Amino acid sequence: MCGIVAYIGHREAYPVILKGLKRLEYRGYDSSGVALINNGLRVFKKQGKVAELEETLVGKDLHANIGIGHTRWATHGEPCDRNAHPHVSRSGKLAMIHNGIIENYMQLKQDLVKKGYEFTSDTDTEVLLNFIDDIHSNNGGELEEAIRIALKRVVGAYVIVVIDEDHPDTLIAARKGSPLVIGIGKGEHFLASDASPIIEYTKEVVYVNDYELAIIKSDELILKNLGNEKITPFITKLDMELAAIEKGGYDHFMLKEIFEQPNTIFDCLRGRLDAANGSITMSGIQQYAEQLTTASRIIIIACGTSWHAGLIAEYIFEEVTRIPVEVEYASEFRYRNPIVNKGDVIIAISQSGETADTLVAIESAKEKGAIILGVVNVVGSSIARTSHAGAYTHAGPEIGVASTKAFTAQLAVLTMMALKIGYLKGTLPEKRYMHLLTELNDVPEKVGAALLNKENIERIALKYKDATDALFLGRGYNFPVALEGALKLKEISYIHAEGYPAAEMKHGPIALVDNKLPVFFVATKDSFHEKVLSNMQEIKARKGKIIAIVSEGDDAANSLADDLIVVPYADELIAPIINAIPMQLIAYYIGVAKGYDVDKPRNLAKSVTVE
Ligand code: AGP
Repeated sequence: MCGIVAYIGHREAYPVILKGLKRLEYRGYDSSGVALINNGLRVFKKQGKVAELEETLVGKDLHANIGIGHTRWATHGEPCDRNAHPHVSRSGKLAMIHNGIIENYMQLKQDLVKKGYEFTSDTDTEVLLNFIDDIHSNNGGELEEAIRIALKRVVGAYVIVVIDEDHPDTLIAARKGSPLVIGIGKGEHFLASDASPIIEYTKEVVYVNDYELAIIKSDELILKNLGNEKITPFITKLDMELAAIEKGGYDHFMLKEIFEQPNTIFDCLRGRLDAANGSITMSGIQQYAEQLTTASRIIIIACGTSWHAGLIAEYIFEEVTRIPVEVEYASEFRYRNPIVNKGDVIIAISQSGETADTLVAIESAKEKGAIILGVVNVVGSSIARTSHAGAYTHAGPEIGVASTKAFTAQLAVLTMMALKIGYLKGTLPEKRYMHLLTELNDVPEKVGAALLNKENIERIALKYKDATDALFLGRGYNFPVALEGALKLKEISYIHAEGYPAAEMKHGPIALVDNKLPVFFVATKDSFHEKVLSNMQEIKARKGKIIAIVSEGDDAANSLADDLIVVPYADELIAPIINAIPMQLIAYYIGVAKGYDVDKPRNLAKSVTVE
């Protein structure tokens, strides 16, 4: 996620901003920049790490007591120098940094182009800045008034900080949906996305709320709403230490990212899913709708957790589009001399967008004439750039090595793709289509509800933390969820675990069952429910320890399971996103209980860039 830092006061602004940006590096980014005012506006920005930006500035005159800085996590426009922030208005007087997504930026851009505006970047930020600039130059009033007018007309999430060469004593900031903290110093103020760049200077902070605007001088902070009414700033005292703040108060990035999922899934759906009007807007998919609706088969290529997302997508795509789907481990596909025909549709799923096995696999398929659609989290990554089109998952940077929020965002994107294609093809009846859109729209809330289980899940995790083996079982859409649960447990707690279709147990693996073996059943209400209960009976008969994930209101498993984890009911096609949550938490709590580094498990890397 982007990071913002700003300063005004008696210190040199540049060192404060630079150090602050380094404190925000944990948020993940691809570019950085600073803007300073001293005898004019000066902007320095580039793709790459903050340290690389710092290197280019050695020896330059960076004296200033006011400045803004930014680390960019690309959402609109590839990572490159010209898309980095701060952006500068056409007038050359204003510089702005922004964290968030302006959803109606294309409309605003078209209006500005008609007025003769030209743009140097592909970003929504530059559009918003020039929208402000246009209002400011036409109204002739205060800059803060122009910002207020502009923000009333934008749709989306933002935190912005603007500086004006003609008013070098003032920072103007505003927020809606993205975080902004103001540090109150003596004759100085600090702004940042979170408290980590601020805490070493002051523990007195103001958390700016949505639809609030801050006009900040070195010795004055004025807070207003968009109706220009003054608001009394509520000053609180930070009681956290720096290290904790970077994790947003969570003990680990993995836990933070698990709990971010209601928001990250919402962000993934936002601007795309309109359940009320029955529409799914995915420009990257729309341009290949013809090829997708007429495809004779779809090949999904991925690794690890992303491969599990692909397995769930296989069930969904085949159900609603009736197109045969094959899911391939990238490493196997690449070296098997696969049959790839011109026009075959390949969906590459990857959080990092840099997994070598997946990248190499799609490069070879592309050479054979296949159409590559990427479902990727990192904007501008190699897999994204190699794909003909696709859809970003917008889960924000995933710092924990174990993929959690990226996995559920992948499922949200893949589900939207399948529903869109099924509806276009006419293989998904309108009534079911509308029902599934509503079900998908309800997922963020249901994931939030599933997370409320955390104490019960932690209790269960502690009960089985000393197991040496575990099984994860499910059927239908829940079978790949079982596989994902097994992988999470393996990679986080180092306990050997296997996932199976529940009905497969009688073909051999049931020999493993004894009165010590924990068997996790993903047994939410679906069309396989009766059969899963029978499979549960088979395990119980052999004294296996059963932990069942069940739907709210379904007590069918109560007499069979030793432990129950209750999650909100959802249509079976949508349920995997919700059912993944307990899987993630079980692995997390066991890993922590065993004293392991759950953010950086042994032997693992976040991005496997070697084949
Ligand atoms: C996920 O928990 C694992 N860390 C790993 O399996 C990962 O999913 C796999 O390496 C693929 O990575 P990608 O999604 O970045 O391509």
